[in-house]
Amino acid sequence: MKPVKPKLLIARAMFPDALARLNEYFELEQNQEDRIFSQDELAERLQGKFGMICTSSAKINRDLLSKLPELKIISTIAVGYDNFDLQACTEHQVMATNAPDVLNETTADFAWALMMATARRVTEAEHFLRAGEWKKWGVDSFVGVEIHGSRLGILGMGRIGQAIARRAAGFGMEVIYHNRRRLNAEQELAAHHARYVDKETLLRESDHLILVLPYSPESHHTIGVAELAKMKPGATLINIARGGIVDDAALIHALRYGKIAGAGLDVFENEPRFHPDFLDLKNVVLTPHIASASERTRRAMVNRAMINVIAAVRGEVPPDLLNRDVL
Ligand code: GLV
Repeated sequence: MKPVKPKLLIARAMFPDALARLNEYFELEQNQEDRIFSQDELAERLQGKFGMICTSSAKINRDLLSKLPELKIISTIAVGYDNFDLQACTEHQVMATNAPDVLNETTADFAWALMMATARRVTEAEHFLRAGEWKKWGVDSFVGVEIHGSRLGILGMGRIGQAIARRAAGFGMEVIYHNRRRLNAEQELAAHHARYVDKETLLRESDHLILVLPYSPESHHTIGVAELAKMKPGATLINIARGGIVDDAALIHALRYGKIAGAGLDVFENEPRFHPDFLDLKNVVLTPHIASASERTRRAMVNRAMINVIAAVRGEVPPDLLNRDVL
């Protein structure tokens, strides 16, 4: 008789070939139609499961965990894990893992793409062209704000923030940053001589401000009315971190009345829904949470999540364990 394999739920559609290795270790339940499960359905599907590979769409809270006595590991393919209640995971003896590092460079590339598109009004200009409105070249047509030689501000200077900073070398930009913890001198040097400043200075002096901090109740609405009022009128604000870090209603007001020049947003409060008033604004570039979306990186994220569940089933410590006190 074949040994019974532990069961694993793959909560969202994944590259099928990337998951092949898991068959050696688990009996898989997949969701290749990529439905978003309600909390009740998630609880039902997780009955009797050893673990789950998921994305940020799965909310893992105390209520859910209390229904799942057999669950041992939840493994997200994302680096952000604000959808996990880590304390509840530990209390229920469930290991929680994320997928750090593998997306740093791709996400940093996208932060630049969004900053450049915003500063140089790329999507606004394309919409104009597509709408058949381009009749003549104009000296002040779609004039934007300068990127090279300007000052780049980064709020949240973890691994992605540092990767964003390094790219500033090619544009001759000065980099300033604020973070809970100041980097050491060697890290600052590697991050294109990034200069640590307080949050107030960061807001006042950045020409382009990129948000890369994790979401938590403490970082909720880190950028609201008061913060936007401190920014330069010609500045751009780029959010590739999480919705909720910016007060979207306050940002809409600031964009509408020209308090800042523009915003580039990959994440939104309550996504995939978003504030409808963004659609009426020309000075905002909107993308649907795609900063890590290169095929190679998305495969690397799935792979990292697999490594974590395989370690767990072998009785090893998963390399990206978030709640070490569970051990
Ligand atoms: C994406 O937002 C991630 O956290 O990986």
